[in-house]
Amino acid sequence: MKTKETLSYDDILLVPKYSDIKSRSEINISSSFVGAYATVQLALPIIGSPMDTISEVDMGVAMWNEGGLAIIHRYNTIEEQSLLARAVIVDANANAAAAIGASGDYLDRATALYDAGVRILCIDVAHGHHVHVKNTLYELRQTFGDKVHLMAGNVATLEGFVDLANWGADSVRVGIGGGSICSTRIQTGHGIPALESIIATRIAKKGGRFADVKVVADGGIKNSGDIVKALACGADFVMVGSLLAGTNECPGEIIKTKKGEFKTYRGMASKDAQIGWRGKTASLEGISTVVPHRGPVSGVLSELRRGICSGLSYSGARSIRELQEKAQFIIQSPAGQLESSTHILSR
Ligand code: XMP
Repeated sequence: MKTKETLSYDDILLVPKYSDIKSRSEINISSSFVGAYATVQLALPIIGSPMDTISEVDMGVAMWNEGGLAIIHRYNTIEEQSLLARAVIVDANANAAAAIGASGDYLDRATALYDAGVRILCIDVAHGHHVHVKNTLYELRQTFGDKVHLMAGNVATLEGFVDLANWGADSVRVGIGGGSICSTRIQTGHGIPALESIIATRIAKKGGRFADVKVVADGGIKNSGDIVKALACGADFVMVGSLLAGTNECPGEIIKTKKGEFKTYRGMASKDAQIGWRGKTASLEGISTVVPHRGPVSGVLSELRRGICSGLSYSGARSIRELQEKAQFIIQSPAGQLESSTHILSR
């Protein structure tokens, strides 16, 4: 049996490079969705996950105002989701993106969302390298032509990325089983360390044919350093759940306890979430937990923005493209990994 060694975020570091950047204001971390319908440029390459404890109206509006985007989740009725989308677009004049599935009501849902003004649709499937996603991409393209941007996923391999791109995806969510609340790898034995999947897509993008198909690194991103590593490896955007969880803009009540204030963050394949949105459970591939309440998401995003800009500066890069050209990676030894942490805390 042949096996391959694979890498994830903590396995690597970027080598600091000569820099002539005198001020962080010279650094531009914008990234764009290119589509025949329009180009949507995000000043901050961060996208909120389509999860029911992350992305509804408040997160959609706040992310847009901060330069990012949030994908309104699909764990509701078509009417409810369309109202959420309208609230983001009408009420707040923000660009809205929204998730749909690949079976059942997906075409009606997509049509209602399109009518509500949504032009970025995300086909949100745990195992996206699937015939259902292929058929859904064809059907949506036939229905909407180039008037919508189609994001699809999730995939973990080069083959998955190439197939979704060939089937018509404009952007692909890359990453299976690496999310902070995921138990897919435990439950099914399948997955690929998150960064390895991003590295795999680099090969496809280098060929030129898929240069405009955007890579969204999804799952397992713990801090701004991981965001810099994902972008340097070839991602155009990162998608995050836990990094935004617990902020005011996340749906859900603040839970007050003697130990402090918390909010719920749950995987969409957790028992809680499945009972909540479909009244029964299938394979349990996620968990539900609580995380500390962290105040407004703008504070979290400012800190992430500062970290990303600082990261580009260490590589001597003024843009994400330059970062990808200049980035040099090394693999850390276990001693190096320990040294990279705030190790006084573990002494
Ligand atoms: P982070 O690490 O940012 O990950 O919290 C968020 C991503 O995790 C995925 N997701 C799941 N994956 N079971 C899974 O295996 C789940 O229940 C689940 N819920 C969300 C999703 O890709 C999200 O963006």
